[in-house]
Amino acid sequence: SFINFLKLLWHYGLNPLRMSMWVEDILDKFMRIYRYQMHDYAFSSNERLLHALGGNDFTRLLNQTIDEAMQKAGFSQKFINEVVCPAMRVNYAGLPSRVVGFLGFLAGAVSLAGVQSGLWSVKGGNKLVCSGLIYSSKAEVIPATVVITKLFSAGDPVKLYQVTYNTSSGLTGDTYDIVLIAAPLGHRMANINFQNFDPPIPEFPNPYHQTVTTLVHGRLNASFFGYQDPQAFHLGAIFTTNNPKLFFNSLGMVSPVGDIGVAGKLPLQSAIWKVFSKEVLTKEQLNLLFSSYDSVKVKPWLAYPEYSAPEKFPPIVLHEHLYYLNGLERAASAMEMSAIAARNAALLAFHRWHGHSASVDQEDLHEKLKTEL
Ligand SMILES: *[C@@H]1O[C@H](CO)[C@@H](O)[C@H](O)[C@H]1NC(C)=O
Ligand SMILES: *[C@@H]1O[C@H](CO)[C@@H](O)[C@H](O)[C@H]1NC(C)=O
Ligand SMILES: *[C@@H]1O[C@H](CO)[C@@H](O)[C@H](O)[C@H]1NC(C)=O
Repeated sequence: SFINFLKLLWHYGLNPLRMSMWVEDILDKFMRIYRYQMHDYAFSSNERLLHALGGNDFTRLLNQTIDEAMQKAGFSQKFINEVVCPAMRVNYAGLPSRVVGFLGFLAGAVSLAGVQSGLWSVKGGNKLVCSGLIYSSKAEVIPATVVITKLFSAGDPVKLYQVTYNTSSGLTGDTYDIVLIAAPLGHRMANINFQNFDPPIPEFPNPYHQTVTTLVHGRLNASFFGYQDPQAFHLGAIFTTNNPKLFFNSLGMVSPVGDIGVAGKLPLQSAIWKVFSKEVLTKEQLNLLFSSYDSVKVKPWLAYPEYSAPEKFPPIVLHEHLYYLNGLERAASAMEMSAIAARNAALLAFHRWHGHSASVDQEDLHEKLKTEL
């Protein structure tokens, strides 16, 4: 590691150190949200939420590509191209990404840069986090397509929503005081219909970006990666720069939960590799990457919003007591962001229902909470 450190200094000067300080500063500010939410503060728009965390510096980041923001912060183009872009391409295949889309990457970068022990995963799959949360919230789950109708009741100040569920066993429904939407409302995404709203609930045209995950059990083709002698090939992960000729974004060995020893294993032996790409890999492409393989699993998915700067957030409040969580995904897309957006919406719905305006959209919370201690 000492020699690696010297090489890093030789190639990139102080950029790597500056980067960890830069990342730390952004993360420090970002993590203020946990204190705000612990004290029950909520924000009525995603812009206000970001502003409360990092002020104009943060909202300005929204208008810049990562290139622009990092150049302005004094990072060298070489460092951006060779270190930042490859790391971004692991999680966010599309460049130029907006910097706050960068926050999601930061979490990854922090764990990438740190020791492997900083990473964790759930035995049985990280998807168990979602079913576990549903279970512990004691929610009733109705799998259905949904129509949300605003109910008119002349002279009645109480706003009610009719939610109609089209389930496999037919139509059911109920009326609600408050409705929270926790699914992306983009074109052909959540497929929720709104009726009777005037003005109508807007369409959010932002498309989601497709990432293809391919899991391959096989041996990497060392010569494709420029190694004449396969025995000399010891890499457990391969990142790429922003080269349009490349057909994959990143490649990394996957190890089972609890098996921390596998990272040191010689990757020439058969292993499970995770390949990220924009398109589904062809047989020819797989035959270039792998000298042999015996099983392939392909999963194309709409992983995160297509980022493009500058751009506006969708609103959180769609109608009086109708809330939308996924707008915050346009800042960064991660399970953690969804949890933050959900808690904010729950607090906001509660405060607005009870008229607690002092807990909504407070400025200078950071200073206020400091002096409270
Ligand atoms: C971002 O850009 C938009 C349009 O170019 C502009 O209206 C907005 O004021 C900018 N926001 C910030 C924080 O610079
Ligand atoms: C309910 O869903 C089924 C299957 O998708 C569809 O054929 C039907 O038209 C839907 N009914 C309503 C009232 O939307
Ligand atoms: C491995 O990579 C080399 C060099 O790109 C290529 O010629 C060869 O077809 C690839 N596949 C196998 C199975 O060796």
